[in-house]
Amino acid sequence: MATYRIRHCEQLGGEVNLHSAKNAVLPILCAGLLTREPITIERVPMLTDVDTLVEILSECNVNISRNRDELTLWSDDPHSPTSENLLSRMRASVLVMGPLLARTGYVRVALPGGCAIGQRPIDLHIKGMQALGAEAQLTPGSVTLQGQLRGGNVYLDFPSVGATENIILAAVLAKGATRIENAAKEPEIIDLCAFLTEMGARISGGGTGTIFIEGQDSLHGCTYKPIPDRIEAGTILCAAAMTEGSVLLRGVRADHMRAVLFKLAETGVTLRESSAGLRLSGRASQPIQVRTLAYPGFPTDMQAPMMALALKLRGTSVFLETIFENRFMHAREMARLGASIRIEDRIALVNGGHLLAGSTVSSTDLRGGAAMMLAGLAAEGETILLDPQGHIARGYENLPAMLRELGADVTMDDLDSMEVHG
Ligand code: EPZ
Repeated sequence: MATYRIRHCEQLGGEVNLHSAKNAVLPILCAGLLTREPITIERVPMLTDVDTLVEILSECNVNISRNRDELTLWSDDPHSPTSENLLSRMRASVLVMGPLLARTGYVRVALPGGCAIGQRPIDLHIKGMQALGAEAQLTPGSVTLQGQLRGGNVYLDFPSVGATENIILAAVLAKGATRIENAAKEPEIIDLCAFLTEMGARISGGGTGTIFIEGQDSLHGCTYKPIPDRIEAGTILCAAAMTEGSVLLRGVRADHMRAVLFKLAETGVTLRESSAGLRLSGRASQPIQVRTLAYPGFPTDMQAPMMALALKLRGTSVFLETIFENRFMHAREMARLGASIRIEDRIALVNGGHLLAGSTVSSTDLRGGAAMMLAGLAAEGETILLDPQGHIARGYENLPAMLRELGADVTMDDLDSMEVHG
């Protein structure tokens, strides 16, 4: 069982390098289903979500070789994955649907799992495939799609990140032109389009609400380095702001995180961009109002880390979660440290500035788990963070080591050798 021991931290300081973005890497790896030629992805982060997707792609008959942090993938004869258990472990597993359907004319996938932050249906993915000519058959727990894909017009009722990616991954091999309206605009979508373009796909409008794709008969291999992780960056910045630290993030794309940077600046910290990176320093003191939205709005993935920061801001901070219906699970754990948080449906009122005291808490989901690690830094004494499902390692490559580089005392321990209290 993953268990972290976090000691109170006065001030973080120093420099840290970012990893590649989990949510960019996962859809890019699924493109290994699209071609016989090798694609090589550089700087792949060491994450359990990546390991799970690699297992799923292997089940789909994708050849995968690993050389340190580089993964090379190609597939002569891909097919649907068989293990429901693997698919149920992560949401991004649904992204094999589009490329498999486009390449082979048939796909059957078990309904995906992932963090329990909401119902997370896949209706928009399926509608997208139907708009490209696929026939869908739904059974409890799985979906089967078949048909030779041709270009089509897709309108998404909501700018879903995953549905946009899945449809792009299908349309690049469909016959003719596809237009996706109300598409997601996240940087990870732009990165997927840039990567597929390197493979020979013809895509325009990535990063806008309307994406055009001219389907190709085949795609070729390429080598690609994905974008840095804006959520990892935001998490570290929140940790720095909570401790009145001075931290330099190297390799950051500040243009991908404007909403988060504006919100951090509202708390009173200073942010400076230079050729060396992005530095946060100064004192966070003002409470904030956060409304999660699709990009370029404030990212839902940053809501929990920002709430950890709000615990330190004297006064009432307000969080409105509009993307997922169950993404305040961390608030209950924060209360165990002495936080005062009131939840009303999709609104959380955080009455910050109270003294927090270390205790034993749990990681409820990926970003909630990271937020609890941050809250532990702010709490007096020692906090034990239990993460039996390994949420944090799904999406952060050794977050304790990153925080240690900045002077924090965070370790991952074996539960059996520890005295658990609280
Ligand atoms: C992606 O999930 C990310 N995951 C999530 O990151 C992120 O929170 C989310 O986008 C929003 O930014 C990956 O990229 C692997 P959505 P995704 O489809 O694609 C509803 C993290 O912590 N919806 O944009 O699943 C859905 O229920 C994770 O790294 C439908 O109704 O998100 C939700 O309310 C967690 N029908 C909203 O749309 C559909 O068919 C946004 O979901 C699809 C989605």
